[in-house]
Amino acid sequence: MSEKLSLRSQEWFQNMDKMGFVHRSWLRNQGYPDDYFQGKPVIGICNTWSELTPCNAHLRDVAETVKKGILEAGGFPLEFPVMSLGETIMKPTTMLFRNLVSMDVEETLRANPIDGVVLLTGCDKTTPSTIMGACSVDLPTIVVPGGPMLNGRFRNETIGSGSFNWMIKERQNKGQLMAEELYEAESCAARSIGHCNTMGTASTMAVMSEALGLTLPGISSIPAADSRKKVFQQISGRRIVEMVKEDLTLSKVLTKKAFENAIIVNAAVGGSTNLIIHLIAIARRIGVDLKLEEFDSLGSEVPLLVNLMPSGKYLMEDFYYAGGLSFVMKQLTTLLHKECITVNGQKIIDNYEKASCYNSEVIKTLEEPLKENAGITVLKGNLCENGAIIKPSAATPKLMQHRGKAVVFENIEDYHQRVDDPDLDVDENSVIVLKGVGPKGYPGMPEVGNVDLPKKLIEKGVKDMVRISDGRMSGTAYGTVVLHISPESTIGGTLAIVENGDYITLDVKNKLLQLELSDEEIQYRKLNMKPESLDVNRGYVKLYVDHVEQAHLGADLDFLVGKSGSKVSRDLH
Ligand code: FES
Repeated sequence: MSEKLSLRSQEWFQNMDKMGFVHRSWLRNQGYPDDYFQGKPVIGICNTWSELTPCNAHLRDVAETVKKGILEAGGFPLEFPVMSLGETIMKPTTMLFRNLVSMDVEETLRANPIDGVVLLTGCDKTTPSTIMGACSVDLPTIVVPGGPMLNGRFRNETIGSGSFNWMIKERQNKGQLMAEELYEAESCAARSIGHCNTMGTASTMAVMSEALGLTLPGISSIPAADSRKKVFQQISGRRIVEMVKEDLTLSKVLTKKAFENAIIVNAAVGGSTNLIIHLIAIARRIGVDLKLEEFDSLGSEVPLLVNLMPSGKYLMEDFYYAGGLSFVMKQLTTLLHKECITVNGQKIIDNYEKASCYNSEVIKTLEEPLKENAGITVLKGNLCENGAIIKPSAATPKLMQHRGKAVVFENIEDYHQRVDDPDLDVDENSVIVLKGVGPKGYPGMPEVGNVDLPKKLIEKGVKDMVRISDGRMSGTAYGTVVLHISPESTIGGTLAIVENGDYITLDVKNKLLQLELSDEEIQYRKLNMKPESLDVNRGYVKLYVDHVEQAHLGADLDFLVGKSGSKVSRDLH
C-alpha cells in the first residue's frame, strides 16, 4: 500500500533521518506499532466536543466509534480538538467566532501529517466553521453530524428545543408558566444527547452537509441517541480511508451543482435562514461563485415537504421514523442535479433510490406539499441595496404585503429598554426596525432579528408583526422577519437613517423592501449621519471587525476567502 499511495503524511514519517525520528518518536508515546508509520493513511478526527457545547458533549464517544471504522479499513486515526461553539452559552454570539474556528481547523489540518479528515459536528456553527476550514485545505473530508436530540415532551405537550423558547414570554405574560414549571420544561426540552431537534440551524446544517454530498446518505436525520447512528459513524470511519486512496478531495464533491442541490433541499425541508450565510461562505472558500440571488431563483418556488417545527408540527425523531431526508431526496429527483458525486463515491441520486415514506403526515409529497413556494425570498430595494432575506414559510401570509410606520431601536439594548414601555408609540401595523446587529456592528451578527413583540400588543393578542434588521434569526424561530439587510447600518447602509414614523413597504411577492423616502432625503440624512465608532481595540475581535465581509458575501473574513491547499512551504527543522 505504501508504495502505491502518495500520502502527505509520509513527508513526516517516511524519512529515516533525524526529523523522521522526531516525527515518529513523540507519537510513539501513545503506543503505535511500526507499521502505523509505514504508509497507513493518517485520518484526522476533528472534534468539536466540549462540555460547554451541550449539543456536542457526546462527540468524544462518537470519535471512538469513528476510530473503529478507520482502523478496520487500515487507517491511522488521530483525534484532535478544535475550538467549539455552544450556541446557548457563548456571549455575545457564536457567529463572532465561526471564522476563528475555521482558521483553527485550516491551520491544524495543514500543519499536521493528515491525509484525510472526519469532521465531528453538531451545534449550529460547528458544522459550517469546520467545513470552511477544511475547504481551504481541500483534503478528502467526510462530515459526521452528531444527530438531533430525542423528542421533548412537557406535560403531554411536544416541545421542540429552541422553538419553545419563543413562547416563554407570551406564556409568562399570560401567567401560564411559573418558575418551577420553567425548570421542568427545561429538562423536558433537552432530554437526550444531541443538537436541537427542530429543523433549526443545527438540523439544517446536518441536512446541508448531506445534500452537498459530504456525509454518508441517510445519516443526518438519525437521532444522536439511536444505535443506528453508531453504525453510520463506524462506516464513515471506514469510508474516509477509501476516500484518501481514491483522492476524493472536497473540491471534487463541492461543485457548483452540489451547492445548487443544497439550496433546493433546504427549501424543501424548511431549513434555517442561517444556511444562506454559511453556504455562501463555504462556496467562497472552495472557489465556487454562489450569489445571494440564487437562493431565491433556485429555492423560492420549491414546495415545503417536511412538517417539522418551526415551519410545521413535528420533530427530527419523527422525521427519521417517517423516512427522513432520504425520502425527501428521492422525491426531489426531478429538481436535483443527479450526477453530483458524494463522499461514498456514488452519484447523489443513486443513494436514495430505495427510500420510502412511513408517515405522510410528517413528509408530504410534491403533489400535496405542506406549503407551496416555501424557499427563501431575497428582497431588494433602497433599504437593502445588496439584499435582505425573508423565510415565507415561517411568516404570516397577510403580513407578506405590508406598509407600516417604523418604530426604531438603535441597538438591541435600546430595544430591551423601551420595547415594553406602555407609552411606546406602536401598534400591530408598525414595522419594528432594529439597527446595529450586523456582522460588523454588533459585532458578530447575533440571532436577534425575531425580537419579541411589545408586551402591550401581546396582551392584545397580536401574534406577529413585521420586523426588519441587519441581524440573523435562530433557525428555530418564526415570524414575518426580514433579516441580513446589507449593507448593515453600522457601515452606513440605508437602515442607519430610518427614523420613527418613516413608512416602510414589505412586498414579498415583488421581492421588495422599500423605505418611502426620496433619494434626495436619503442622501441628505446619510450626509448628516454621525459615523458610528466601534469600541474594539484588540485581539481576535479587532481582527474580525477590521476584516468581516457583509452578510450577502457570507460574513467571512476577507483574507480567508479561497483556499491555499495542503502544502506547507517550510519544514520543521
Ligand atoms: Fe446547539 Fe441548538 S443550541 S443545536
